[in-house]
Amino acid sequence: MKKRTDNTYFRRGDRIESHIIDRLGRPIKDLRISVIDKCNFRCTYCMPAEIFGPDYSFLPKEELLSFDEIIRLVRIFARFGVEKIRLTGGEPLLRKDLDQLIRRIKEIDGIKDIAVTTNAVMLVKQAQKLKEAGLDRVNISLDAIEDEVFQKTNGRGVKTKPVLEGIEAARQAGLPIKINMVVKNGMNESQILPMARYFKETGDTLRFIEFMEVGNHNGWNMDAVVSKKKIIEQIHEEMPLVALDANYYGEVASRYRYEDGDAEIGIISSVTEAFCSSCTRARLSADGQLYTCLFATSGYDLRDFLRKDYSDEEMTDYLIHVWEGRADQYSVDRAQGKPMKGNKIEMSYIGG
Ligand code: GTP
Ligand code: 5AD
Ligand code: SF4
Ligand code: SF4
Repeated sequence: MKKRTDNTYFRRGDRIESHIIDRLGRPIKDLRISVIDKCNFRCTYCMPAEIFGPDYSFLPKEELLSFDEIIRLVRIFARFGVEKIRLTGGEPLLRKDLDQLIRRIKEIDGIKDIAVTTNAVMLVKQAQKLKEAGLDRVNISLDAIEDEVFQKTNGRGVKTKPVLEGIEAARQAGLPIKINMVVKNGMNESQILPMARYFKETGDTLRFIEFMEVGNHNGWNMDAVVSKKKIIEQIHEEMPLVALDANYYGEVASRYRYEDGDAEIGIISSVTEAFCSSCTRARLSADGQLYTCLFATSGYDLRDFLRKDYSDEEMTDYLIHVWEGRADQYSVDRAQGKPMKGNKIEMSYIGG
């Protein structure tokens, strides 16, 4: 698949300027780039400590895409429609000199939005530098406001204080903030209301995420999922909500505002209400594999292209071919009971 075997998809010119759409009519708009597969947390639903222990083989440094390689790819993706870049991990702030990467992405024509998804503990040191480099906003993962619960969910016994300080550092630096809370039965469902109350006060948008079956080790089952419906009902009963329109086409969260204020919440309901029909996202792993779905079982080896003698035009044509062949809609398939074969990629490898 990866090799150039015929000429049928080697078209260029007007097609590159126009919108490239996949087999389900979806354009490509966002590229989520994992810059490192390591993390300083061991969230039980993402990198359970018993699997991601001292013997786990993370990617060696030479296997990671260099900044030059990432920049070359972003330029190519921007040529055929990508406007939004999200840097993820593992924990992206562990990647050395991340600000320099952001500075260089910012200069690329067509890129309108650069965001980072982080656990925030390193923001105290880095928020200002990242903002100055051109970072537009941050999404911060926090699964509980009570220490006893949070210490268990993050698997490292970290209290909420360093995360709350990271959030404050982002605010001081002028970065717009969203908070991500994965909700899982038996883990942190007790925190839905305390988190909602806390972030209603601060005014930060809090997004509740249905626990997803990403990877092969998080013990997912339907009983562990707290549905969008249950989350909304619980909050609405105490703090009435009004539904809002999406901010942009393909936004993953459905938005609500509190009736008596401006603060917002969002629900990311990939399990109970799939949003595949508007999925405009591609994902790049830290070692340069391109995935066209979060639940894919295999990717396209772009690092191989980068490290061999392929021209930008050949890479562009190849990527158009990949996108035009895309028919992924995993969440819809799962909801319809379609079985999936093969090992899924890990969340920490693909960055959510
Ligand atoms: P915004 O651009 O701020 O709306 O960010 P985002 O919600 O797209 O990104 P973020 O990294 O904050 O992800 C929040 C949650 O949404 C995570 O649990 C992601 O795994 C999940 N998510 C993001 N994109 C997709 C997607 O395409 N499919 C599924 N199933 N989940 C997604
Ligand atoms: N289900 C839902 N969200 C998850 N995340 C990590 N693992 C899962 C999962 N199994 C979230 C993180 C982070 C984002 C990138 O994905 O908490 O906010
Ligand atoms: Fe690290 Fe984020 Fe995964 Fe938690 S969810 S282990 S913070 S990558
Ligand atoms: Fe997109 Fe796959 Fe998520 Fe559906 S399950 S929204 S196709 S990444």
